[in-house]
Amino acid sequence: MTTADGPNRAAISPPSGARYARILGVGGYRPERVVTNDELVDRINSSDEWIRERSGIVSRRFAAPDETVVDMAETASRQALEAAGLDASRIGAVIVATVTHPYQTPSAASILTHQLGATPAAAFDISAACAGFCHGVALAGDMVTGGSAEYVLVVGVEKLSDFTDLDDRGTAFIFGDGAGAVVIGPSDVPGIGPTVWGSDGEQWDAIRSRDSWIKLRDEPETTKWPALTMKGQPVFRWAVWQMAPVAQQALEKAGVAAEDLDAFIPHQANMRIIDSMIKALKLPAHVPVARDIAETGNTSAASIPLAMERMLREGEAPHGGLALLIGFGAGLSYAAQVVTLP
Ligand SMILES: CC(C)(COP(=O)(O)OP(=O)(O)OC[C@H]1O[C@@H](n2cnc3c(N)ncnc32)[C@H](O)[C@@H]1OP(=O)(O)O)[C@@H](O)C(=O)NCCC(=O)NCCS
Repeated sequence: MTTADGPNRAAISPPSGARYARILGVGGYRPERVVTNDELVDRINSSDEWIRERSGIVSRRFAAPDETVVDMAETASRQALEAAGLDASRIGAVIVATVTHPYQTPSAASILTHQLGATPAAAFDISAACAGFCHGVALAGDMVTGGSAEYVLVVGVEKLSDFTDLDDRGTAFIFGDGAGAVVIGPSDVPGIGPTVWGSDGEQWDAIRSRDSWIKLRDEPETTKWPALTMKGQPVFRWAVWQMAPVAQQALEKAGVAAEDLDAFIPHQANMRIIDSMIKALKLPAHVPVARDIAETGNTSAASIPLAMERMLREGEAPHGGLALLIGFGAGLSYAAQVVTLP
């Protein structure tokens, strides 16, 4: 036999997966404790009115001190599995998008996989901040069609309250905690459009941990807890000017026009960013837009699946409808795709 490497070498069987992939079920978890703007304003010399006007945020949820990223992910995942009608044992891979799992290793995904009873599924975390969930959807879709897993669980989860400096005027009011999950599996028709994604590491310091763990270890007297810091204005401008064209490209690559959408579910970064994107995309008024940020705050990787779960539960978007997703944030990193809602 002759192969690409020459004679007498065994040929590798090509991987074979499903023809197409789609989202089969979604789940969400919002911690019990509601934190109003009024609870935060004294420490940052702000006001409920200023926060509502500049960010659209009315309240957010904070997890309980003993509630972990994995706990929140588990609740959202069980809901997604139930919605998909699938037992955890059928899951071939678990991808967790998070930047707030407090162990460098092992991954939140490994522990989650065990807690769900999905062992020995492959398990790993991805670090793409607010773009993490859309990165996970892209990977999972390719894994299902590429043949490396039949069903993939993708979770976006954050406990940002652990990494927010409540004395920092630029971030204290923005972030919240929560988890969202989807199950992705085989489909007869395309359910996940081509992903448009990328990064701009030149702007790595626009949103980042304040300091490294090494600095905290070596200079504990002068180093504060590595909470997130953000250059609000450059991030705002980048999101408004650069992300609408990315969303537009995702529509074009999927062959879907803005007026054909049943939902627009952008990362819940800031209500003014969402409004600017609607304008830039010339999104028709009949397309419902996720505005979960008002009551959930910015939950980074969890924001898109949480918003999706709410829109479907409240009947704002139809099951089986077409939704445009776009995540963007620290890295800077971004990813967008059109999906069929579960
Ligand atoms: C964070 C953000 C709301 C700050 O708004 P901004 O208009 O850029 O605020 P600035 O820092 O320029 O400050 C403007 C004024 O508000 C004041 N201010 C800043 N933070 C304040 C706060 N928390 N409360 C009250 N006043 C505040 C400033 O002192 C300044 O006052 P001055 O005009 O009298 O000097 C805004 O930059 C933003 O939304 N950025 C994007 C953040 C985001 O979406 N991040 C997530 C990406 S994943």
